[in-house]
Amino acid sequence: MFEIHDVAYKDILHVKHLTIKKGNVTSIVGQSGSGKTTLLRLLNRIISYDQGEILFHGQPLHRVDPIALRRQVVMLPQNPAIYNGNIRDNLLIGLKFSEKPMVADDSLYKILKLMKLKKELKENTDKLSGGEKQRVALGRILLMEPEVLLLDEPSSALDESTEQLIIEVLVQYTKSNGKTMVMVTHSKKIAGQFSDEIVEIIKDQPVNQREGV
Ligand SMILES: Nc1ncnc2c1ncn2[C@@H]1O[C@H](COP(=O)(O)OP(=O)(O)O)[C@@H](O)[C@H]1O
Ligand SMILES: [Mg+2]
Repeated sequence: MFEIHDVAYKDILHVKHLTIKKGNVTSIVGQSGSGKTTLLRLLNRIISYDQGEILFHGQPLHRVDPIALRRQVVMLPQNPAIYNGNIRDNLLIGLKFSEKPMVADDSLYKILKLMKLKKELKENTDKLSGGEKQRVALGRILLMEPEVLLLDEPSSALDESTEQLIIEVLVQYTKSNGKTMVMVTHSKKIAGQFSDEIVEIIKDQPVNQREGV
């Protein structure tokens, strides 16, 4: 899906070699400030690399139309925006931004159920807890049905048991729909439990999968 060769971004991140395989769940772990978010942002071209090459389906990333890319490779930011308004609008906004067709309420309720949210679509988001907001943001991403899900600490606001449930749902969703998931996590337990591949980023050290991390 992605092949990264000798990519550097400023003096923040250097990836000698990394392959992200289609259908895999890849977890990115490492200390705060080591460049985990930077890696995800490189993969959907929010930022551009200064040297080296990232291939997406064998094609250099800078040659892929960024709008088409961001429909296929969708990122959940570390602090996703929740807008003033109700849950329905907050779920639909990802589809709207990527100019995908809207979906009916029954699909939205299915997503809420998947995210273990017992809420009404008309409820205002200002009453939601941090963990509930995080799950609305995740639901927004799932609705977009991207080929690749880039999730930046998707369970950071969840308690441990909800975290288990939600990550399991995300992994199942990925596997049963032939998607690819790249997830940044602080939890080595979660990484160990759910990943096909774990990539550790160590500050000021090049990432080199071939050396085995
Ligand atoms: N665009 C940027 N310009 C300058 N410094 C940045 C930029 N983006 C991130 N950084 C710095 O790069 C380092 C890595 O950031 P980040 O990828 O967010 O780390 P992590 O997600 O692992 O905590 C941090 O020290 C951060 O302050
Ligand atoms: Mg980060």
